[in-house]
Amino acid sequence: MVNNIVVAIDGYSSCGKSTLAKALAKKLHFIYVDSGAMYRAVTLYFLRNQTDLSNHDLIIDALEHIDLNFHSRDYQSHILLNGEEVSDEIRQMPVSESVSLIASIKEVRKAMVRKQQKMGKSKNIVMDGRDIGTTVFPHAQVKFFMTADPKIRAERRYQELLAKGERISLEEIFDNLAHRDFLDTTREESPLTRAADAIILDNTNLTEQEQLDFAIEKIRPFMV
Ligand code: DC
Repeated sequence: MVNNIVVAIDGYSSCGKSTLAKALAKKLHFIYVDSGAMYRAVTLYFLRNQTDLSNHDLIIDALEHIDLNFHSRDYQSHILLNGEEVSDEIRQMPVSESVSLIASIKEVRKAMVRKQQKMGKSKNIVMDGRDIGTTVFPHAQVKFFMTADPKIRAERRYQELLAKGERISLEEIFDNLAHRDFLDTTREESPLTRAADAIILDNTNLTEQEQLDFAIEKIRPFMV
């Protein structure tokens, strides 16, 4: 494909980025890439191998031994770490607690961005993350920056975890989200910021269908 379309979705944690990205991929038959899953898989590798994170040579060496692949089933993104499916394990607490630190390491970001850019070279893709519209694909045809009221985000996350049987208070979730926002927006390497040409999508009062309709309207003109 010569003129492939790239849709970049950035925004805060628990803002519904992946829900929208998956729905778009399904509707438009694009490939969905969850860039956060890549940082999570690298984190899992480092945790398993007890990599010394203060040693940058070790990190660079370890990155050469990490092979990440996605396979798409029902427009859900499954990630393979050196051939092993780790989609569930990367969502568990040990990874969630360390991933912000790992994602702030320059060498890690460089390696991930390279892989992500390769994926968007020849196929229509929708990729969500924190730096997709600013760093990974600054020339993406369509960029969205998602946001929502922090209380609503915490409430949604709370309901999600409750449905999975996890017991955690709404207050703790609220504080955790605020902390992650702080880390994501203040880190030195590619902090979360809105690209100047990104369309703001505040979904505080929008249903999933309304968000999908809004996004498709913006993408359609590029699909002729
Ligand atoms: O979207 P998520 O919660 O799965 O992301 C996990 C972590 O990775 C989070 O700390 C933000 C970081 N991340 C990033 O720095 N850049 C991206 N493109 C995607 C995620």
